[in-house]
Amino acid sequence: MPKTKPSLLKDLDHTYDGLGANPIRVFDAEASKIPNVIKLSLGEPDFNVPEHIKQAAIDSINNDESHYGPSNGWPKVRQAAADFLSDRYGLDYDPNTEIAVTVGATEGLHAALDTLLNPGDQVLMPSPTFSLYDQLIRINGAEPVYVDTSSTGFVFTPEQLKAGIARCDHLKAVLLNFPSNPTGVTYNEAQVRALADVLRETDVTVISDEIYSELTYDGTHFSFAKALPEQTLLINGVSKSHAMTGWRIGLIAGPAELMRRVSLAHAFNVTSASNPAMAGAYEAMSTEEGRQDTLAMKAEYLKRRDLVVAKMSAMGFGIPNPNGAFYVFAKIPADLIQDDTEFCYDLVRKNAVALIPGGGFGPGGEGHVRLSYAASMDNLTEAMRRLQEYVDDYRATHTA
Ligand SMILES: Cc1ncc(COP(=O)(O)O)c(C=O)c1O
Repeated sequence: MPKTKPSLLKDLDHTYDGLGANPIRVFDAEASKIPNVIKLSLGEPDFNVPEHIKQAAIDSINNDESHYGPSNGWPKVRQAAADFLSDRYGLDYDPNTEIAVTVGATEGLHAALDTLLNPGDQVLMPSPTFSLYDQLIRINGAEPVYVDTSSTGFVFTPEQLKAGIARCDHLKAVLLNFPSNPTGVTYNEAQVRALADVLRETDVTVISDEIYSELTYDGTHFSFAKALPEQTLLINGVSKSHAMTGWRIGLIAGPAELMRRVSLAHAFNVTSASNPAMAGAYEAMSTEEGRQDTLAMKAEYLKRRDLVVAKMSAMGFGIPNPNGAFYVFAKIPADLIQDDTEFCYDLVRKNAVALIPGGGFGPGGEGHVRLSYAASMDNLTEAMRRLQEYVDDYRATHTA
């Protein structure tokens, strides 16, 4: 391997300094070294992509759809996205001016933040939250501002939002995510509308990351864009709904004026999403079979969630309403190790189950662990047995 000349490393863009060392990644890398470990740390579906979706991508390749497409995505894919958002959430977007197909939700988030942020701007977020946001905000020279929601069951309340707004002097955006990674908590219509009422009085843009919207268990998902369309950039996609994380197809939708700028950021970064992946996403979003795929996966996640919640609650973990996505965010029982990082390292070293320390997701996450139940029933059952063993051993050796 050639060594980089020291002078090339001297004056790199300082906004990236220190951003590589995500504690969640460090923990995951350590946990992976443990023999026979069961990792409930991954944030992605364990299902295979449904066959009809794979076939659509294969057909796209065989039909030589190998040339650059329109930057915002093929018209029929944008139309399918508009129809999907309309059928599922009652949203009204013009596929020609208000929707872009992105390289995963991640690239949509990146394009949104690139478009909105100037150095020194602030982005307000309920915390704990998805750790990538922090980094995407910082590389734009902007400042993440967190509001700890642990006292309200990880639901961002209008009072907390108002107090957060009052703390900021350069507030540009509020970044929401529901159903939430990492907490699994989601919002009902009244909760969404109450936050929207506060934000309507401001000139703040809302980025609403609803990538887990299709994985809402009790009740129906109510989109932020339904309550406040004129101020919202909505992020969604097929990564979680159709187990297509590696295909990298996301969606961003919003008011045409803003979307013109978002589309520029998107075009400069990636030109467009890939054709075979878009063909797969079209199949996923536009067919009844695609709808059924999600329902079948959701039914499976629900069984897994119920198993994990029942077992962990019986051990004394506190789990606030895990009504969406595929995570539980559990408070460590008071008689076990209270430092979440120490707890997770101790558990994985002694009983080979990897959970993620909650503090890595921001203020309010301390003292909690995140578990992903996007894992097989067999693995979850065995993981719960090992966790029980760990808890029993700890209690047996630490009671007075
Ligand atoms: C809240 C949230 N947003 C966005 C993403 C990224 O989605 P994608 O794979 O479509 O880029 C994830 C992935 O874990 C996530 O949890």
